[in-house]
Order: sequence, then structure tokens, then C-alpha cells
Amino acid sequence: MELMPVKPEDAGKWAEMRRDREAKRFMPMVDASVEELARRLQECTADTTDMSGKEILLSVHAGDCLVGFVGARNASRQMRYAEISYLIDVPWRGKGIAQAAVRCLIDKLFASGYRRLFATISVGNVASIRVATKVGFVHEGTLRQHHLIEGRPVDQEIHGLLDREWTGSAYAPKPAPDDSPC
Ligand SMILES: CC(C)(COP(=O)(O)OP(=O)(O)OC[C@H]1O[C@@H](n2cnc3c(N)ncnc32)[C@H](O)[C@@H]1OP(=O)(O)O)[C@@H](O)C(=O)NCCC(=O)NCCS
Repeated sequence: MELMPVKPEDAGKWAEMRRDREAKRFMPMVDASVEELARRLQECTADTTDMSGKEILLSVHAGDCLVGFVGARNASRQMRYAEISYLIDVPWRGKGIAQAAVRCLIDKLFASGYRRLFATISVGNVASIRVATKVGFVHEGTLRQHHLIEGRPVDQEIHGLLDREWTGSAYAPKPAPDDSPC
């Protein structure tokens, strides 16, 4: 598993992943064309030291396949916190890739001076809560009806991790199957 800077050419794959039922059910996403996503990718940075408020986004690769995205947004230079997010392509789920990618991202963010990271997770998003918990995040509370997702108000769990709690990314994802789906 490897994290790489995103490129506008990744927009098609990103659009496909965003169309997944689970992603649409649990993530507050605005409708966007491939062209709009390509422009957004162009505006993102891979530089985790950039606390200007720019969206940090990295693509997740298994061998030659682009299998997901991880990122950080709502960063505050003053508070030195940021909100992380993650999305893995359906055929690649359940192989430990999100956990490995999130651990790599956290390593980079804490090394870049962040003090606190948090994830905002829809109630009932069992896989995402499992990823956050296994990586070391703690459920700090729930914001009632905090997000509107496809027009529905959805409670959001806040999971937080402090730099002093971080023990590092020593974790190996399960090996990719021989019949790689990409
Ligand atoms: C959440 C998501 C990124 C997880 O990706 P992934 O690569 O499958 O995650 P991992 O394989 O690293 O870990 C998933 C864990 O959840 C568990 N899990 C998944 N679905 C589950 C379910 N329905 N019930 C119980 N556990 C479940 C897996 O068994 C695994 O735990 P384990 O390592 O103890 O076996 C992926 O499902 C996804 O992209 N979902 C849509 C987008 C999303 O919700 N993003 C999070 C926004 S905060």
C-alpha cells in the first residue's frame, strides 16, 4: 500500500467510488461531474505541512491499482487540528487497506505539526468506526443531526486522536489477492 499525490486524471475513479451506495449513505457529498472533481483535485495538496486550509488529499495504491483516497480538511493552523476522511473502492474493502492508509496519513500529519486529528462518522457506519477505533481514535461524543446526507439529518460521532496517544504506523495490511480487481 502506498500513498501518492492526487492528479486530475484520478477524477474518473474518484467519481466512480463516490457513486457507491455506502459512500453516498454515510458521507455528505455534493453532486459533482468528473470535470468538477478534476478541478477540485487540481486544487488539493499532498503537502501535509500546508495548514492554509487547502484540502489535503492523497490517493491510495495497491500495486498498480488506485484503490482509494485519504485526506484531511477543516484544518486550523491556530488550533493545529484537522479532520481526516477515507474512501476505499468496493472490491478492495475488508483487506485492511483503509487502516494501513489512515495510519500512514496520521504519521505524516503528526510529523507535520498537527496536535489533534478527528473523524466525523455517521452513526451506523460500522466499517468506518471500526477503522477509526483500530487505529486508535476514541469516540468523544455525538453531534445530533450534524450532517444532511441526501436530504436526511444524520447524527455524527466525533472520534479523536491526540499526537501524544499516537504509537506509530507499524501495521501491515492483509496481502492483496492474486486476482486484483483493477
Ligand atoms: C470505511 C471504509 C473506508 C473501510 O475501508 P476498508 O479498507 O474496508 O477497511 P479495513 O479493511 O481497513 O477495516 C474495516 C474493518 O471494519 C470491519 N467491518 C466492515 N464492515 C463491517 C460490518 N458491516 N460489521 C462489522 N465490521 C465490519 C472489517 O471486518 C474490518 O475490521 P477488522 O480489521 O477487525 O476485520 C470503506 O468501507 C469505505 O470506503 N466506506 C465508504 C466511505 C466511508 O464511509 N468513509 C468513511 C467516512 S468517515
